[in-house]
Amino acid sequence: MTSFKNSLCAAVLALLALGLAAQQRGPIEQQHVDPASAVRGQALYRTSCASCHGPRARGTAAGVDLIRSTIIQHDLYGSTLGPFLHQGHAPHPSGLSTAQVLDLSNFLHQEFDATLSRSPAKPAPDILVGDAAAGQAWFNGAGQCSTCHSTSGDLAGIATRYADPYALQQRFVFPGGFHRGGSAAEAKRTVVTVTITSAAGPPVTGDLVNLDDFTIVYRDAQGHTQTVQRTPGMTVTEHNPLAYHEGLLKTMTDRQMHNMLAYLETLK
Ligand code: HEC
Ligand code: HEC
Repeated sequence: MTSFKNSLCAAVLALLALGLAAQQRGPIEQQHVDPASAVRGQALYRTSCASCHGPRARGTAAGVDLIRSTIIQHDLYGSTLGPFLHQGHAPHPSGLSTAQVLDLSNFLHQEFDATLSRSPAKPAPDILVGDAAAGQAWFNGAGQCSTCHSTSGDLAGIATRYADPYALQQRFVFPGGFHRGGSAAEAKRTVVTVTITSAAGPPVTGDLVNLDDFTIVYRDAQGHTQTVQRTPGMTVTEHNPLAYHEGLLKTMTDRQMHNMLAYLETLK
C-alpha cells in the first residue's frame, strides 16, 4: 500500500518536471541539495518534525504529507518553508534560524528527489494502470468533475492536447501550473477575483492583488490597481477558480488519480 502510494505520488512529482519541460515555460530553477546540509536537516527533522509528519515526510494522522505540500513544492532553499515556519504557526517552532530552515529545506528536497527517483517515470513503465470505467464514474459522481467540466465540451479530446499521459496527469492534478521550483509569477498564474459589496454603491469586481484586515487591493477591468478601505457592513467575496483542484491535491487517493487518468486518456 505504501509503495503504491509512493509510486503514484512520485509519478505526480515527475509530471511536474516533464509537463513543464513540454510546455517550454522557460528555465526551471531547481534546488541543488547540499548533502551535508541535508544530513543536518534530517537530524533536526527527526527531533522536531518526524513525530507528526512521519520519518519520510509522507505524513501521519498528526501531520500532513509534506511531499504533497505546495509549500515544499514551491520552496527554493527555504523561500516558502521559512516564511511558513517563521509565522509561528502552532504547533510549529518559530525560532529556527535561517541556517536550520535551509537544512530542513535540503532534507525535504532530498526526500522529494528520492520519491522522484522511485518514480515509474524512470524508466517509464506505464502509469496507465487505472480503471477507466471507475474514473468515469468518479468524474460524474463523487469527484464532482462534471459540475465544472464536460467531456463533450471543454474536455473533449483532452488526451490529444497533451504530449503523453504524464503531461495530461500533470495538467489535471496541477491545472494552475503548480510545480516544483517554479517562479513566483508561475505559481500565481491563477487569477483569483474579488467582489466587494457595500452601501456606497454597486458591487465592484476585479482581480485580487492583496487582501488584509484593512484594505483590499484589486486590478480593475482597465488594468488599474485600486485600493479600497474596508468598512463595517462591507462584504468581500473571493473566488478562486482552482480552489477545488487545490483541495483535490490533498484529498485525492492514488487510486482515484490513476482511474481518472485512465478515463481522461479515453477522451481522444
Ligand atoms: C505536533 C505536530 C507537528 C509537528 C511537530 C510539526 N508539524 Fe508541520 N504540520 C502539522 C499539522 C497538523 C499541519 C497541517 C495544519 C497546519 O498547516 O498547521 C502541518 C503543516 C505543515 C506544513 C504546511 C503543509 C501545507 O502544505 O499546508 C509544513 C511545510 C510543515 N508542517 C512543516 C513542518 C516542519 C518542517 C516541522 C519541523 C520543524 C513540522 N512541520 C513540525 C503538525 C506538525
Ligand atoms: C469547481 C470547478 C471545478 C471542478 C469541480 C473541477 N475542475 Fe478541473 N478545472 C477547473 C478550472 C477553473 C480549470 C482551469 C481551466 C483553464 O486553465 O482553462 C480546470 C482545469 C482542468 C483540466 C485541464 C483542462 C485543460 O484544458 O488543459 C483538467 C484535465 C481538469 N480540470 C480535470 C478535472 C477533473 C478530472 C476533475 C474532477 C476530479 C475536475 N477537473 C474538477 C475547475 C474545476
